[in-house]
Amino acid sequence: MELPGGRSYPVLVGPGAVGELASVVPTGVRRVAVVTQDSVPVEVDPGVEYRVFRIGDGETAKSLSTVEELCSAFAGWGLTRADAVVGVGGGVVTDVAGFAAASYHRGLPVVHVATTLLAQIDAAIGGKTGVNLPEGKNLVGAFWQPAAVVCDTTVLETLPEREMACGLGEMAKYHFLGGGDLGGGDPGSGEMAGGDPGGLTLEQRVARCVQIKAEVVAADEREAGRRAVLNYGHTLGHALETTGRYDLRHGEAVAVGLVYAAELALSLGRIDDERVAEHRRVVDGYGLSGSLPAGSDPDELMAAMGRDKKAIDGLTFVLDGPSGVEVVPGVDAGVVRATIEAVR
Ligand code: GLY
Repeated sequence: MELPGGRSYPVLVGPGAVGELASVVPTGVRRVAVVTQDSVPVEVDPGVEYRVFRIGDGETAKSLSTVEELCSAFAGWGLTRADAVVGVGGGVVTDVAGFAAASYHRGLPVVHVATTLLAQIDAAIGGKTGVNLPEGKNLVGAFWQPAAVVCDTTVLETLPEREMACGLGEMAKYHFLGGGDLGGGDPGSGEMAGGDPGGLTLEQRVARCVQIKAEVVAADEREAGRRAVLNYGHTLGHALETTGRYDLRHGEAVAVGLVYAAELALSLGRIDDERVAEHRRVVDGYGLSGSLPAGSDPDELMAAMGRDKKAIDGLTFVLDGPSGVEVVPGVDAGVVRATIEAVR
């Protein structure tokens, strides 16, 4: 992963990659605080003295109080700037461990061992760390680039089906961010739910997504512009998640959001029917639904989309178009509302 200013860090992708952890812990680090959860079935050896610190499961654990408890525990163990943090888990762990590492003693190196598909292709890459507030998701955080990321694809073999689906929703997004050949072309007829969609192994698909994300982040590390395209499908997706009534996981919500974004781009004359059909095929191909959950309330979704972090100038969406996927501010609320019907 290349960053401005000549900075870079390795992202190891492959079966058994966790065995290489010691080789990417920065040279000279004396001790490592391993941050993980009881539910993460992965053991690591960072190659130096280490202690394991466990945090709770789920989005509720992604809180300032978890970071406070973690940093107190670091202090209790006497963690210093000569040491490092290793986060072992999915997005909750990498976000919390990364933010604790960014904050404790004003910054320690962090290495992420990403154990879910979602973390491997998104959360662990690119340096976004942070926690939720009662007022919303990811409202407090820091950009803190890891020293390295380890994506062991063997670990994904035991991932619960729903957790895998969550990652596949994010993977679907990359098809429209330059990964058109992801999986060897249109996955419509393939068995995508974790299988081989047409030529590429899971390892190759993870590596391709990491490469696309790395290119976007390299061009806009702190999301001044282009990086926001990584939120393709997320405006409606986040609205479905934050209204909290639909029991959808992040990737499942993003899948609906991708189809909605395509329908919205069609309504705005930015893409044609065939391109919308392509979005639907990709989402279907991953075994995900592109339709709103039963009982969805358009007023509630409109209100939530208006509160989106991107919505600085009216309703803002990431939309496909003649120049590819880009951020589009000031989208007409009437069109946004009417298009909700297209994904019912
Ligand atoms: N998950 C979006 C980003 O890293 O920018």
